[in-house]
Amino acid sequence: QTEISRVRNLSRVQMGRHELEPWYFSPYPADFADSEMVYICEFCLGYFGQPSTFARHRHKCTLLHPPGNEIYRDANVSFFEIDGRRQRTWCRNLCLLSKLFLDHKTLYYDVDPFLFYCMTVRSAHGHHLVGYFSKEKESAEGYNVACILTLPQHQRKGYGKLLIQFSYELSKLENKLGSPEKPLSDLGLLGYRAYWQEAIVELLVARCEEAADQAPSSSSAMSIEDLGQALAMTTNDVLHTLQNLNMLRYSNKNHVIVLTEAAVAQRLRQEARERASGRGRRVIEPERLVWKPPV
Ligand code: COA
Ligand code: NA
Repeated sequence: QTEISRVRNLSRVQMGRHELEPWYFSPYPADFADSEMVYICEFCLGYFGQPSTFARHRHKCTLLHPPGNEIYRDANVSFFEIDGRRQRTWCRNLCLLSKLFLDHKTLYYDVDPFLFYCMTVRSAHGHHLVGYFSKEKESAEGYNVACILTLPQHQRKGYGKLLIQFSYELSKLENKLGSPEKPLSDLGLLGYRAYWQEAIVELLVARCEEAADQAPSSSSAMSIEDLGQALAMTTNDVLHTLQNLNMLRYSNKNHVIVLTEAAVAQRLRQEARERASGRGRRVIEPERLVWKPPV
């Protein structure tokens, strides 16, 4: 681990057909600070300070997807699982790239203890990286995500929520309750809060609809622990989300979860926004995940 509290060093970065403007310092070679543009190979994530060296590289580079097993594919996205120990260079390149958009003081050069779950979209030219999260092979604290990033050219399109949902689908298969590593960045917190709220409200709405015949009231019979089990979320994260949503009441000294009209209305507004954006709802389809917890 290296202490990094330096000013932004790169001004422009080209990756695939996108030009990115870095947010933070990342320890690329020192002389890159003089380059007008840094070129990143979108497949091997190698980096080049000159257009000529980059062009030579692109002629030689044969990679068309992240160097791991494709463990998920649906109509829109794929996920590749990459072992930091087996693909050290690629994973270090990924960490260097993501540091441009992460305000952490430390950068992990030691990628060996991590697995990287990389989400891509397909084109005729290959699998293009959209975002990823890293996960410790052994987390003493029970974290199911270490670092999470949507590349800036793809942010605010629902991919962050997909990454988060995927992390919880893995936890379900591990039979564990997961939570992201703390502290979260401001954007990380916004993304997680949005995911947690939607996941909980969606589950409660579904339960209410199932139970509509018997119990027309809006209160749900699910406990905080039930919600945690169903969503692979920690009790703490469920509790805080319900408190934020003002959906927790006390009755005879017990917690009662109340699905409020405000929460239902917000869910309807969200669905309308997603329809209006033309992309519909992005969700992970758990039955398409081909994965067993690593032993
Ligand atoms: N301002 C306000 N709300 C935001 C936001 C922003 N800039 N970005 C995300 N949100 C909230 C919104 O509620 C959003 O839902 P909406 O678009 O339907 O309103 C929700 O988060 C999820 O957005 P989504 O499009 O699924 O997320 P994303 O693909 O933009 O990715 C992060 C979210 C956190 C992964 C992304 O912002 C990122 O990579 N940030 C830099 C790295 C980082 O800080 N990672 C976390 C710490 S390890
Ligand atoms: Na959680």
